[in-house]
Amino acid sequence: MNRKYRKTVIAGNWKMNMLPSQVKGFAEELKNISPKAKWCETVICAPYVDLPAAVKAFKDLRISVGAENLNENPKGAFTGEVSSAMLCDLGVKYVILGHSERRQYYGETDAGVNRKVLVALEAGLTPIVCVGESLEQREMGITLEHIALQVKSALYGVPAEKVRRVVIAYEPIWAIGTGKTATAQQAGEVCSAIRNVIRELYGARVARSVTIQYGGSMNEKNAAELLAQPDIDGGLIGGASLVPEKFAAIIAAANQE
Ligand code: PGA
Repeated sequence: MNRKYRKTVIAGNWKMNMLPSQVKGFAEELKNISPKAKWCETVICAPYVDLPAAVKAFKDLRISVGAENLNENPKGAFTGEVSSAMLCDLGVKYVILGHSERRQYYGETDAGVNRKVLVALEAGLTPIVCVGESLEQREMGITLEHIALQVKSALYGVPAEKVRRVVIAYEPIWAIGTGKTATAQQAGEVCSAIRNVIRELYGARVARSVTIQYGGSMNEKNAAELLAQPDIDGGLIGGASLVPEKFAAIIAAANQE
């Protein structure tokens, strides 16, 4: 983390796991044990149907709410889809874009992620853009090239004054939901490389202001070590964000003096 130059953001990614009727209970449990988040912004990203309950329940906890996807069109005949304006209207502040599960199971492409980033920024949402390599790519030694391509495509056409609002989440695919975390050094290295890509595109001042998270089996045990890396400014947390005690412990790790 480097709190002088950029925000630390701890974001939960509930994926397809929490029922709308369970949201209030989760928030109450978290409220009882959650440390004061003096140094970090805390976010819960939830399925669309959970969002109204989440916005209401997390308001007193000063936790922002995010969606897990959006449609790239402003409005119209797109049955089953949800627009950026709808999310904003509910009080949603963040949106996860290009998560590897969406790239893998729903055919999301770098170009599609870019269109969603532009739409999210236009609406005033903060996109959390996910990038990450597969195990094969890591073994082939092409991790950094692959990630640079994903970052450059996601940010294509994003002006410098808006890129400061983008959060990048580095999530090695082999570490997601597997219990295999990247070592702090591996994660730190890729996050530094991501900052270098942003520096190439936008210059040093912008690059140092962008929040870069690590995600992939981050938990209450490994969070402090990962967050101690200078270029890791937070986490995108799946499994551990469903358990109030674990999520609270990660928030505490991000708020150590
Ligand atoms: P995980 O998920 O923490 O369960 O590995 C992270 C993510 O997919 O965002």
